[in-house]
Amino acid sequence: MTTATQTVAARAAAKIEATDLQMAFSANGQQHAVRVLEGVSFSVPTGSFTAMLGPSGCGKTTLIRIIAGLLTPTHGEVRVDGQLITGPSSERTVIFQDYGLFEWMTVFENVEFGLKAKALPKSQRRQAVLEYLDMVHLRGAEDKYPNELSGGMKQRAAIARALVVDPACILMDEPFAALDSQTRLLLQEEILEVWDRTQKTILLITHNVEEAVFLSNRVLVMSSQPARIILDMPVDLARPRRPDLRSNAVFRDLVDRLWQTLRVQVGAAKSGLAEAVKREKK
Ligand SMILES: Nc1ncnc2c1ncn2[C@@H]1O[C@H](COP(=O)(O)OP(=O)(O)O)[C@@H](O)[C@H]1O
Ligand SMILES: [Mg+2]
Repeated sequence: MTTATQTVAARAAAKIEATDLQMAFSANGQQHAVRVLEGVSFSVPTGSFTAMLGPSGCGKTTLIRIIAGLLTPTHGEVRVDGQLITGPSSERTVIFQDYGLFEWMTVFENVEFGLKAKALPKSQRRQAVLEYLDMVHLRGAEDKYPNELSGGMKQRAAIARALVVDPACILMDEPFAALDSQTRLLLQEEILEVWDRTQKTILLITHNVEEAVFLSNRVLVMSSQPARIILDMPVDLARPRRPDLRSNAVFRDLVDRLWQTLRVQVGAAKSGLAEAVKREKK
């Protein structure tokens, strides 16, 4: 096979393909002063669950926003199914840490919202909304408003809203970070059930090593700013993943190895921050 044919074959199997992404923001009137991403390339196979791990502030949300089509990179490109991304699409829905629900809409209306763009009869819309509320264990809460819900319920509603439009990819930006630790563990297990049932391509961004290993087929580690991919580690743990996996020796070993890599980057991110604060004070 020639290199060109191999590239075409790799693209066909990849749902998301990011090539040489760079992102720099302006600061203090200077263009490209803050270099956030540098030479970020990776691909996410169709139907896989990929986790991206990185220290706080390294550029994880920036990367998700680029893949979602909400931000244009300074350099490089992202393709989904071989098509260049030029803007947002219901084929790529994002689940954010802060849920992103509309406070003035009920749970039902929030989940139904994305479907309104699709010309479906009302009865079919209702059926789809209830089906996904069922999947995330929120049946019975459809008439509640977000301020009447716990954090876990809000995130379940946000997950149902992301799924109901039947996207090809789900992008998750630290979706469980604002939840208490018990709800977090429960929702991790629930998202695996949802993934099993729907076979969506999921890209999860997190700073939590255990979460990345528990959920994914593969963990990519980002460096501190400007972020690059510094490690690509397969997670060959059997599925379905049960809660007791967390105490399994192979699981612990993977978590340790990833943490060893990440802690160097967390240290670098901290000293980078201290330098930036010093410069600001001068
Ligand atoms: N619109 C923007 N303008 C300037 N700097 C930005 C902008 N968005 C993000 N940044 C900077 O990019 C860096 C990475 O931010 P972010 O992607 O939110 O990190 P993470 O999600 O990994 O915590 C931070 O230093 C942040 O201040
Ligand atoms: Mg972030």
